[in-house]
Amino acid sequence: MNPLRKPILAANWKMHKTVAEAVAFAEALQEQTGPLTDREAVIAPPFTSLDSLCRALKLEGYSASAQNCHWEEKGAFTGEISTVMIKDLGCRYVIVGHSERRHIFGETDEMIRKKAASVFTHGMVPIICVGELLVERDANSTFDVVGAQLDKALEGLVSDLVGRVVLAYEPVWAIGTGRTATPAQAQEVHAFIRARLEALFNKEVANRVRILYGGSVKPDNVDALMAEADLDGMLVGGASLEVASFKRIVQFES
Ligand code: PGA
Repeated sequence: MNPLRKPILAANWKMHKTVAEAVAFAEALQEQTGPLTDREAVIAPPFTSLDSLCRALKLEGYSASAQNCHWEEKGAFTGEISTVMIKDLGCRYVIVGHSERRHIFGETDEMIRKKAASVFTHGMVPIICVGELLVERDANSTFDVVGAQLDKALEGLVSDLVGRVVLAYEPVWAIGTGRTATPAQAQEVHAFIRARLEALFNKEVANRVRILYGGSVKPDNVDALMAEADLDGMLVGGASLEVASFKRIVQFES
């Protein structure tokens, strides 16, 4: 981490928790962890709990995120939720392009670009996910894959907005597998992403953007990961479902 960039510890609950469970979690986490000034805790519940969670997160330093969105404001898109509707709830962030959206639901780079742009248009901040498959890492194409995902997601955005983007590097082989990237492996890709931002925009933008790591983050590896210079936070799946374990991640020490 770098003191210039406020760390984000984000819980991606995926398809877990009812409204009552989500609210109980939010209350317990805030009660046990207290207000946060030097870091941010973000919770991304399923859409069904997003309204209640936005209301339940009251303390300084806590905010809610959607897990997905549609890029159009309204229309005949059965089953979809627009950024206008998400903004209406008081939500601050929207995760865009998570690998499960890309690989299970077939989202393309172009859809992800439109989603990220729409999140900005409606005054929220996209958490844009990038990451390579195991075969791509084994073929030494990690930088090509991540670089191309990044270029396409940010295409057409002005540097003022790009400086506010949150990126998440999530190697697909590390998600839900218990096989975390080592701090050095993560740092290598984060440094690559920051250099790419400098090449595409400028140094100031590159230094401002927060780049989270995701993929089997746990209470026992968060401190070592956060000690790396270009890791500015964590996007946490499995270990964010229990208050005790997510609390320890929010309270990382490095
Ligand atoms: P995991 O998921 O922490 O369960 O590996 C991370 C993610 O998918 O964001």
